[in-house]
Amino acid sequence: MPSLNLVPASTLDYRALAQKRLPRNLFDYIDGGAYSETTLAANVADFEKLHMQQRVMRDVSSISTAQTLFGEKLAMPLALAPIGLAGMMARRAEVQAVRAAEKANVPFCLSTVSICGLEEVAAAANRPFWFQLYMMRDRGYVKDLLGRAKAVGCKTLVFTVDLAVVGARYRDVRNGMAGGLSALGKLRAALEYPTHPAWAFDVGVKGKPHMFGNLSSLMPTAQSIGDFKTWVDEQFDPSCTWKDIEWLRSVWDGNLVIKGILSTPDAKDAIAAGADGIVISNHGGRQLDGVASSITATRTIRNAIGDATTILMDGGVRSGQDIVKAVASGAHAVLIGRPWIWAMAARGQAGLDALLKTYRAEMHVSMALTGTTNIAEIDTTILDTNWHE
Ligand code: GLV
Repeated sequence: MPSLNLVPASTLDYRALAQKRLPRNLFDYIDGGAYSETTLAANVADFEKLHMQQRVMRDVSSISTAQTLFGEKLAMPLALAPIGLAGMMARRAEVQAVRAAEKANVPFCLSTVSICGLEEVAAAANRPFWFQLYMMRDRGYVKDLLGRAKAVGCKTLVFTVDLAVVGARYRDVRNGMAGGLSALGKLRAALEYPTHPAWAFDVGVKGKPHMFGNLSSLMPTAQSIGDFKTWVDEQFDPSCTWKDIEWLRSVWDGNLVIKGILSTPDAKDAIAAGADGIVISNHGGRQLDGVASSITATRTIRNAIGDATTILMDGGVRSGQDIVKAVASGAHAVLIGRPWIWAMAARGQAGLDALLKTYRAEMHVSMALTGTTNIAEIDTTILDTNWHE
């Protein structure tokens, strides 16, 4: 018997609501991964395989989920990951998200390819948010963007290094995002919009203007996933190497976090290049399908590099319990991507507010039942030693 389903309880409940509300191509863009989505599935499955060790009869009457990251004291070890085109999933989604993040006392990271630009988000924010950057061929534009980020108070830059090219995502191809549509295909694609009226009103009517707010002078009419891909092909610099971090350092004096690390040698190179932190990530299984899950890579890299840098991870986090497992595996904090945009697409800021509250409450339960009362106490001893298959 299915439950009444009156209130979304879990991340996947928000996913189901987002699926109903969004045009299929937008839902699939968020939901999908590269090729057969093996890594995307492994990101989630490997969290599920990771067993915890229940402990009882400890004093768990006072529990703190607080964590400090880059000098910021946060309510929990979580940040909202940068998501391109977020403002196409819900009205001015980046503005709603920064408000939800502040309310929950966690960082929000704005994507280079967001719909709302740096200044619009800053106008809604009361605290510094993070900014994510891709290296573009036009270094002058990169420098200007960083100047804009600094001018609005950003102190932490997340530099994404795993998108030298865009991964092959079959769902986007099937939905006609890569072109190749027949006249009938075009009609079917166009029909997605009027057949999703709640989204069409919220985003299509109330959520304008639809353009990339940080790139408006470069691509004033762009707004679609196809436009994003064209821009990546034209503008992303696949020749970028660790040497370019030196240049980046010369134009950015804030915190520098390198996102997209999946191997120990790359983690070491990032540290040697002067990173303040790394994000262990396979880009949510959207880039190189068949690589290790993020939680597995987190364990491997943390074992190899110890405390050499601040370790964030993303990919597969679907609950507060997963956050505790990630911390036990060596991460200082996680980023969530799909969960926040599903909640936002489903219910706007109220959805994301509720999701973040749920994650914190779930962390509390997991900590209480593993006998831990603060983040520093969470380590491999709370994992069942037989967990690894
Ligand atoms: C962009 O970063 C994407 O994964 O589509």
